Amino acid sequence: MTDVDTAGQWDQAYDAGDTTRSWFQEHAGQSLSMLDAAGTTQQDSVIDVGGGASTFVDDLLDRGHHDVTVLDISATGLDAARNRLGHAAVDVTWVVADLLRWQPPRSYRVWHDRAVFHFLTADDQRQQYLQVLNAATATGSVAVFGTFAPDGPQRCSGLPVARYSSIELAGELGDPWRLTFEAREQHRTPGGAIQPFTWAVFRR
Ligand SMILES: C[S@@+](CC[C@H](N)C(=O)[O-])C[C@H]1O[C@@H](n2cnc3c(N)ncnc32)[C@H](O)[C@@H]1O
Repeated sequence: MTDVDTAGQWDQAYDAGDTTRSWFQEHAGQSLSMLDAAGTTQQDSVIDVGGGASTFVDDLLDRGHHDVTVLDISATGLDAARNRLGHAAVDVTWVVADLLRWQPPRSYRVWHDRAVFHFLTADDQRQQYLQVLNAATATGSVAVFGTFAPDGPQRCSGLPVARYSSIELAGELGDPWRLTFEAREQHRTPGGAIQPFTWAVFRR
């Protein structure tokens, strides 16, 4: 699949509206709990990779974070978040890019990925992802991952996914990342289905 195909597919998913998306949530409660478990503060810079239209950015701004970046391949997803935020959107850095080809211009204290890494089903994609993760972070940075758990769905949005335990995620990340906290979430989709997620915090 080309970048254009990938972007177009995700744009379509966002065009369809909030409640048709299995990953929709009114608040990113589990993500905030993971930041708390990692001991992050509102002074810490945060990048939400593959953030799309997620309400995580709203929650971060509400908490007083002032250095927040949201990156996604789907301009439609980011526009939905920007429009929802209104004037507050000017306080956020928005990046439309294919994460796997992105060259980070700086490093971030917190890297957040909810339901993006698990779409990378090929080794070379995961290697590219790790190169970007490592380039966008520094010693002391935290990486928070939410992926489908081993007993989670095998597909999402028509695409195959990989499923992970926290130990398996740690194996994928390798050095210099150290697993510091883990959790399990039963995400309820807008349609009422339950999707088990693995959550993990890593520090380098
Ligand atoms: C299942 S959604 C999760 C969205 C968001 N993290 C959330 O929790 O609401 C997956 C997201 O990853 C984005 N995405 C997929 N492949 C990407 C890539 N190569 N680069 C950047 N974003 C990507 C999609 O556009 C979509 O917004």
